[in-house]
Amino acid sequence: MSIGIIVTDRDVSILKQKTEALLPSETPVWVYPDIPAPTEVEMVVVWRHPDGILKTFPNLKLVCSLGAGVEQLFDDPGLPPSVAISRIVDEALSISMRNYVLMAVLNIHKQLRFYQHNQRELRWSKPDPLEIPLRIGVLGLGELGGPIAQNLASLGFAVWGYSQTPRNIEGVHCLHAGSISPSNFASKVNLLICLLPHTKATEGILNLEVFRNMPKGSFLINVARGAHLKEEDLLLAMKEGYIREAWLDVFREEPLPPSHPFWLYDRITITPHVASITNQENAARIIAEDYRRLKEGKPPLFEVNREKGY
Ligand code: GLV
Repeated sequence: MSIGIIVTDRDVSILKQKTEALLPSETPVWVYPDIPAPTEVEMVVVWRHPDGILKTFPNLKLVCSLGAGVEQLFDDPGLPPSVAISRIVDEALSISMRNYVLMAVLNIHKQLRFYQHNQRELRWSKPDPLEIPLRIGVLGLGELGGPIAQNLASLGFAVWGYSQTPRNIEGVHCLHAGSISPSNFASKVNLLICLLPHTKATEGILNLEVFRNMPKGSFLINVARGAHLKEEDLLLAMKEGYIREAWLDVFREEPLPPSHPFWLYDRITITPHVASITNQENAARIIAEDYRRLKEGKPPLFEVNREKGY
């Protein structure tokens, strides 16, 4: 029996090599499109897989997403109803995301954009106030959002957290979706950071109503999924003054097309979905362990709940 890696946006030779090294030699790891015997495949590791391909593995038992997000699997009508789904939860992924968010928060807090602009104009000038007093709202308090909220609180920021499941995090005002609407949550803060999973309930959660509930001159960081943001609403909220600056790592269409208006906004920082990328060596350890667990009839390490969608 074997493992198939179906990843279409990057070179996965390290993942293949490291996973194979951790498994007995009778378990080959095949990389799409070079999968010689689909009937042998019991587990696949996917990222941006072609829709419908999962149906071509009649003995498939486990699908592992090569990232934190799994929404692409639920969007695929060919996802077999009986297979288990898992994802990568890894400290390196979490630290990398924490550092990206911290970079963006500190840039905003210390007003780096102001100095960059002045440097281009050869101008020595100090803003008033020197630091922007931030009230930070973290949307999503799971494996990635929880440690980020805690980290920001430990650095002295006032932090609110919003999650589907009630949470308790030291130093963070945790509120859950059952007790507060996204708009009411947004009214408490002047910086929103989105780390939510993409589900039907969170699709378009970053919208004009939410932005209009924030004080004028607020900030947005989206490192979750492009589908969380209604892109035209952000442009309107910027025009109306509610959102002063945005940091975006994810977009509805990726790569972001050259004709997209976001490119032209000086107050939008664009990064190409790099806030946190799965480390292939760490992922190999999780995949090999999940395969062993599969053979022993145990659930995968980080199983996804099909009902919740994450
Ligand atoms: C990246 O976007 C991930 O879900 O890991």
